[in-house]
This record gives sequence, structure tokens and C-alpha cells, in this order.
Amino acid sequence: MIDKNIAQILVGIDSNTVLSGARKVKTKLITELNHQGLSEEVKVIETGSIGPTNQGVILGVFPGGELYANITEDDVEEFVQEKFVKGRIYQKRLLSETLPEELRLLEYDSRRTQQYGRIVLDNCGRISPDDINEYIGVGGYEAMGFVLLQKSPEEIIDIIKDSGLRGRGGAGFPTGLKWSFTFETKKFPKYVICNADEGEPGTFKDRLIMEGDPHKIIEAMVIAGYAVEAELGYIYVRGEYNLSIERLQNAIKQAKEMGLLGKNIFGSGFNFNIQIKIGAGSYVCGEETALLSSMEGYRGEPRLKPPYPAQQGFLQQPTLINNVETLANIPSIILNGSEWFRRFGTESTSGTKVYTVLGHVNRPGLIEVPMGITLREIIYDYAGGISSGKFKMAQIGGTAGDVFSERLLDIPLEYRSLQELGHNLGSGALLIMNDSVSVSDFLTSCMKFFVHESCGRCSVCRIGTKHLYEAFKRLNEKEGYFDELENIQDIANILKLTAFCPLGQSVAQPVLSALKYFGDELSEGVNIDKKRKFPTREQKEKVVYYS
Ligand SMILES: Cc1cc2nc3c(=O)[nH]c(=O)nc-3n(C[C@H](O)[C@H](O)[C@H](O)COP(=O)(O)O)c2cc1C
Repeated sequence: MIDKNIAQILVGIDSNTVLSGARKVKTKLITELNHQGLSEEVKVIETGSIGPTNQGVILGVFPGGELYANITEDDVEEFVQEKFVKGRIYQKRLLSETLPEELRLLEYDSRRTQQYGRIVLDNCGRISPDDINEYIGVGGYEAMGFVLLQKSPEEIIDIIKDSGLRGRGGAGFPTGLKWSFTFETKKFPKYVICNADEGEPGTFKDRLIMEGDPHKIIEAMVIAGYAVEAELGYIYVRGEYNLSIERLQNAIKQAKEMGLLGKNIFGSGFNFNIQIKIGAGSYVCGEETALLSSMEGYRGEPRLKPPYPAQQGFLQQPTLINNVETLANIPSIILNGSEWFRRFGTESTSGTKVYTVLGHVNRPGLIEVPMGITLREIIYDYAGGISSGKFKMAQIGGTAGDVFSERLLDIPLEYRSLQELGHNLGSGALLIMNDSVSVSDFLTSCMKFFVHESCGRCSVCRIGTKHLYEAFKRLNEKEGYFDELENIQDIANILKLTAFCPLGQSVAQPVLSALKYFGDELSEGVNIDKKRKFPTREQKEKVVYYS
């Protein structure tokens, strides 16, 4: 556990840094400290993600609280010498002189004269995810004890409703309301599902939450189970998330051993267990009804809604489905109250949001910021500015998200402001692009993704995504038909209005927003002399549609 008063090296071990050799660096650190006779004075601690990504192995080091990046095994000897023998900063790999929690949220809020901590990522990078005692040491499982021993399900649901928490899986549905629908459906057994499928390209916040603080998800699921009267929970996690699965399994085992899962938890008479279901990594399986089909052993295809999962979910029973980040807010809301939670963010959207910031920025990585912060603040205050060239566009919320131009840099990222413009917040990926990126090229690659991921069940999506892909490809090659932009708009609108599930409907988001903000650039890909064989747009307009 992080303790700023003793000498410590926090090694951020998550699935990004493991690939850069984090485990080897950790072993070498231990050996080198031993060699220097410092193993008693300096502790090496394995944590989850400390924040920065794409920057190799990350170390947080005390005393001093500096952050080092791109540390390799070859650095270790010199690093230990400099930092712990000579007492100096190891300049060669210094990323910043402050750890992310000071660097980000607090710095941001100090300008607003209020100091906030993190909520969701509170423990990430600060405690060992493999040790339940570390979680308990920072107040873990207290909220669960309070709920099981002192509150009724209705009281818990009221707290969550009052907090204003909305789902962080993309749709932004009010969480308390969803819990109340599941509670009110009196059919047993009921289930709680944590949606950890996280298929949206560029989004990996849930992975880093699970890797960094798995017990928080378990605690939140027990609270949710109690509130909706379910006794079994599932975490549906994608198969590629090996480290998340490993840490969750370990956390479940430890919680069971301590009696925090199982029968009669805290002597309250409430029973709850959690199982992990491993998905095969299909994008559409993150959509809640496709997820249910997949869990039941069918093809991962969406179902018609209604009935909603709260009424008829897993095995036709009432089921609460929440995203990882949504759940990770629950214990803090219970402990601190809904009013406290509302202090974060804006009037219409309370709390914080965890984003993965990617692309042409100097400091890509994971951040947690209050709702309502603007894209400009995220890029320039948190992500260190544009890494090369000039800002051109950003995609908000994954491949199914809207494409923003410079005009939207100062729009507060929260539900109401975005909805007024016809946009939404999506999953939490912020892909920042500079002026070297062509809009048609970018959209071609987005459409390629949808062609691949469309489940094929409805022809509008199966065929529409293919047509869009080909249209953007033509524009990119400056070979667009004379009416290509209208054609793209028509197909996107058809998808939005008639696709069977939200996957097909959401394809319209990047397409229509790109047309809105980058129509001029896209029209440069039109070859005005290139006519369609049949029908022309004029002919199409003469077609009579019957309803
Ligand atoms: C194509 C598609 C993929 C989705 N993928 C995910 C996902 O990976 N994780 C997730 O939590 N929600 C995903 N969702 C949203 C879920 O359907 C659902 O709204 C969410 O799990 C509800 O949890 P929340 O209320 O806590 O946000 C997806 C939706 C669509 C249409």
C-alpha cells in the first residue's frame, strides 16, 4: 500500500506494462536492492496501472513521489544507485516529479479552489490488487458491511438514485432507476451481471480498473445484489483480458476465504456469490442483450427490447447489468453519501469520468476527471498537448462515437451539453488526431471495423456498413460518386432508424458527425463527373415509398 513516509517503489503491473517487461524489472529491482543491502529500507510493491500508457514500465517512487517511465532491466542498477544510494532523481527516465493523482485531479481542481480525490481509480496504482488486506486497509468492504447490516434495499436504491450516477458503459442510463426496476420485478432467482466486455476500440479503462482494484468490483456487486435481491453475480469479461481474469479470480477466492462472499455475509442472512464468464471477444457481445445470449450459450446476437433485462434477462430471469466503471463508483457513494458524489461534475451529470486518452498527445493514458471538463482541458492540461502538428479532430467514446472538430473543444463533456448537440459521451475513449489524419481515411478504418463486427443478423447493418465502408474508401481515393455525401447520409440515417440493435444504429454517430463538421474536406473526395450507372439521385427521389 502506498505510504509516502517510507521508501517505496511502486511497480505498475497491468497488461500494458507486462508486455514491456514490468515483471522482469520488478524482479531485478528486488535483486539489486538486496545486493545493495537496501531490501529492508526500500519496499518494492506491485500495483495496478499508475496511469500513463504507451510509455513502457512505470514506477512511482517514494520518498519524493516521482514518476518514471520506460524503465528497463538495464536501468535498474543505475536507478537504485542514483535514487537510493546518492539520494538524487534518476533524470534519464523521469516522467514527472509528481504521481498522477497529484498531477491530474488535484492540479485541475486547485484552479477551482476545491480539492477532490479520485473516486473510481482511487486505489489503482496505490495498493496491491492481489492482497485483500490492502483493500481492507484503505476502507474496502466497509460500505458492504454498512449496507448489509444497516440498510434496506430500498434505502440503498434511494442513495444511488439521489447520487445521480448514470451508467458508464455508454448509454448513460440512470443507475438507481435501473436498480429499482430490477428490485421491483418480483421473480426469483435474480442475477447481477458486471459487463466487463469492453470491446470499444481505444477503451481500456475497465481493464485497468479490474487489474488495479478488483475487490472494489466484488464489493459493488454484493451491494448491487443486496439492493435488487439477487444471490448470484457474473462478471462477463472478454477472453483477452488475462490479467483482469487472473486478479478477479484471486480476489473472489480471497473474499470467499474471509466470508465476504458466500452464505450469511457478516451474519446478515444475505448470501451472494460471484462467477466469471469469459467471452470470446466479439464487439456486439458487450451490448447487454447479446451478452445475455452469449452467456446462455447461444450466438452472441442482440435480442429485441422490451422486455428489458430488469424484467427478463439471464435465463429469462430479472437481471441487473452494469458496467465495471459504474459499479466502481458504488462503494464510495455508499460511504460518503449521494450529496458528496453530486459535488463532483455538473448539475446534470454528477461524478467523475475515467477516460483513456490516445493518439497524437504527449501523455497518453488513463485519467479520471470530473464530469463537465472540456476536451481542450483534457488535451492541454492532462495529456500534455498535441505531440506533433496541430489539433484537427477527436473521436469521443470509441469507434461508435462522434467525431469532433476544433469547434467543440470547449463543450463540457457531460450528458446534457452533448445531448443538446445530438452527441453522446460513449465509452470513455478519447482519440485525439492531428492534421496529418485524413477524415475519409479515418472513417474508412472505422467502417472496416463495423463491417467486421456487424453480427449479420439484420441486413440493414450487414449491408449498410459495407456500403459505407466502400463509400469512404472511394472518397479517400478521390473517386467518390457525384452524390457520394448524400448517399452516405442516407445510409447512415437508415441505419440509425432501422437497424435492429444499437450497434447498427450507432454507426451513424461517427458518420453524421464527420459529415457535419468535416463535410467540406469529405467533398474534396468527390469526383463530380463520376455518375452511378443506376439509379441516379434524381431517379431515386421519384421512388414512392409505402408505409
Ligand atoms: C455494440 C455495443 C457494445 C457495447 N459494449 C459494451 C461494453 O463492452 N461494456 C459495457 O459496459 N457496455 C457496453 N455496451 C452498453 C450495454 O449495452 C449496456 O448499456 C451497459 O452494459 C449497461 O451498463 P451501465 O448502465 O452501467 O452503463 C454496449 C452497447 C452496444 C450497443
